[in-house]
Order: sequence, then structure tokens, then C-alpha cells
Amino acid sequence: MAKLRVAPFCISLDGYGAGPDQSMENPLGVGGERLHEWVLPTRAFRSKHGMGDDGETGPDNDVAERSDANIGATIMGRNMFGPVRGSWEDSDTWTGWWGDNPPFHHPVFVLTHHERAPIEMDGGTTFHFVTGGIHAAREQAIDAAGGLDVKLGGGVSTIRQYLQAGLVDELQLSIVPILLGSGERLLTDLGDQIQHYRRADITSSSAAAHVTLVRADG
Ligand SMILES: NC(=O)c1ccc[n+]([C@@H]2O[C@H](COP(=O)([O-])OP(=O)(O)OC[C@H]3O[C@@H](n4cnc5c(N)ncnc54)[C@H](OP(=O)(O)O)[C@@H]3O)[C@@H](O)[C@H]2O)c1
Repeated sequence: MAKLRVAPFCISLDGYGAGPDQSMENPLGVGGERLHEWVLPTRAFRSKHGMGDDGETGPDNDVAERSDANIGATIMGRNMFGPVRGSWEDSDTWTGWWGDNPPFHHPVFVLTHHERAPIEMDGGTTFHFVTGGIHAAREQAIDAAGGLDVKLGGGVSTIRQYLQAGLVDELQLSIVPILLGSGERLLTDLGDQIQHYRRADITSSSAAAHVTLVRADG
């Protein structure tokens, strides 16, 4: 059965998945770009982003490789999709951070309260804008994934809602040894559903500790 996987999401040691003040200049909020530094030199990341087939191997690369394995659709929040807020009317040229050929290559479901027609990109990525909430996005993504798993890309608010609803089957967190001090904190106000998660795996490098939790009943 298809799983809903957070695979992985990066948090600072003090629990933030993004720094404060997200903007065009600081997509991950101020200081938040450091959350992703561990993945940038990996062979998997470099290959995925057309930067060549060289790069580091090891625990970080293993996590990066597994991140995209068996994934047929992605769900993300509107803030992860871009820095524009409110109605799309004044920002209908915004098609995400990732250029004409985004690295998803499958349907992506963007949670938003503002309706927008789907955007078909090069390379098999289509952005669908879902205004019906997290359950509707999950159903549409599972349907589109055709039996493969669905990746819950982020951001913080989106993952937190799925955790609160008990709908995340696998939660992989890459814990980065930095302190952000403020921003969007992931592991807060999660409700009773969080009691269901158990450790499935842990691996680490000098750059990050990668912890995988799975739902004990899932
Ligand atoms: N650390 C990591 O690994 C990682 C990974 C991915 C992203 N990020 C970062 O996380 C940050 C974004 O996180 P975030 O918590 O600010 O926002 P988010 O979860 O990406 O998006 C939140 C927005 O999505 C829409 N939304 C969310 N739930 C909805 C629902 N149930 N129904 C309808 N619309 C809904 C709303 O937009 P509207 O109401 O405005 O339409 C809401 O303001 C960015 O800085 C991004 O770069 C970090």
C-alpha cells in the first residue's frame, strides 16, 4: 500500500524547519539555507540537479538517494512552492523555485486557499493547486502516484498538519547541528497522534543525524 513519507525534512538542533522572514532572497528564511548544506555535496543531489555524476558518497548520500526512491507524487504547502502570498492574480507568472524543468518529474499537489489552474512544466512535473485541505491533497496524490509512495515535501505547517491527523506513515528527519533561534518550528502542538511513532533507523555523518520514525500501527 502506498505510504505518505516525509523523506527527509531538515530541522535545526532547536527544532526549526525554516528560519524567520521567508522571502525571495531567503527561501528558507534567514539562516535557513544552512539546513540543506549536508545534502549539497552528495552525489545524489548533484546528479538530480544536473551538476554531474561526481559527489560525495556515504550516509548523507544514502539518505538523499532513498529520498526519491519509489515516489510517484509530492505534496507541499504553498510557502514551499514560493515566496508569493495571497491571491495568485498578481503572481500568476510564478511557477516555483525550480526553473522550467523541476526535479520532481511527477505530479505535485500544492496546498493553498487560493484557486489556481494546474501548471504543466517540462520533464513530467505538473503543479496542481488543492484548496480542499490535507485529506483532499492526500487522496489526489495517492491516486496520481499509481501505487508508488507520496512524498510530503514540506514546509513546516504542512507536515505538522499531516502529523496531527496521523496520516504520515514514515517520518524521516535530518537533524542538523545548527541553532536557528527562531523561525518555523516543526515538532510542536502535534497532539496525541505523535505517540504512535517508533524509531526505525538512525544514521549520521558529521553534518547531520538522520532519524527515521514509522507509525507503529501503520
Ligand atoms: N527544512 C526543510 O527540509 C524544508 C523542506 C521544505 C520546505 N522548507 C521551508 O519551509 C518553509 C515553508 O513552511 P511554512 O510552514 O511556512 O509553509 P508551508 O507548509 O510550505 O505552506 C503553508 C501555506 O500553505 C497553504 N496551506 C497549508 N495548509 C493548508 C490547508 N490545509 N488548506 C489550504 N491551504 C493550506 C496556506 O497558504 P495560503 O493560505 O496562503 O494559500 C499556508 O499558508 C519555507 O521556508 C521552505 O523553504 C524547509
